[in-house]
Amino acid sequence: MAHARPDRIVLVGFMGCGKSTAGPLLAQALGWEFRDMDRELERRLGLSIADVFRRHGEPFFRLEERRLAVELSSVPHLVVAAGGGAFVFSETREALAAGALSCWLRCGLTTILSRVRLDGSRPLAPDRETISALFAEREPSYREADIVVDAEAAPEAVARAIIDALDTAWGQSRPRTSAE
Ligand code: S3P
Repeated sequence: MAHARPDRIVLVGFMGCGKSTAGPLLAQALGWEFRDMDRELERRLGLSIADVFRRHGEPFFRLEERRLAVELSSVPHLVVAAGGGAFVFSETREALAAGALSCWLRCGLTTILSRVRLDGSRPLAPDRETISALFAEREPSYREADIVVDAEAAPEAVARAIIDALDTAWGQSRPRTSAE
């Protein structure tokens, strides 16, 4: 376990696992802020993720992603939706994991393939074969997360499962949800 009383919860997992949909629900329940790293990078760079990759390439994107992870590592009371590759790069992973509880939203490949649209918005998901290969390659990195939650369910159920997992990880020191 990374931290007894984490300042942040970082959601990690493959594209389409539901980080950006379960994240705001979790943040709202805990009374914490929500940050989606991809949306934040798009805002800062003034470009869609697809255009960042197209114009500047993946190494530039990873550098900006790492910078953002380092910045977020000093902000308390945050739920962070990390991009699907963020936890794969060791320096970014270390920044995200510092002082945080990382949570892997685990989903089967069939579900991922049904959720990820092949519309060009995700540069690393051009077709089913590429997604399948990346899925297998990424799994060992996601396993580094502190806890794992089944993300096949609806976002509300996923957020609830994370709160339940926090009870185990944090015990009595978990922040109370608005319903409690
Ligand atoms: C990526 C996942 C995307 C985005 C970028 C790269 C990846 O985020 O960061 O396209 O390497 O898996 P989502 O997981 O939110 O789609």
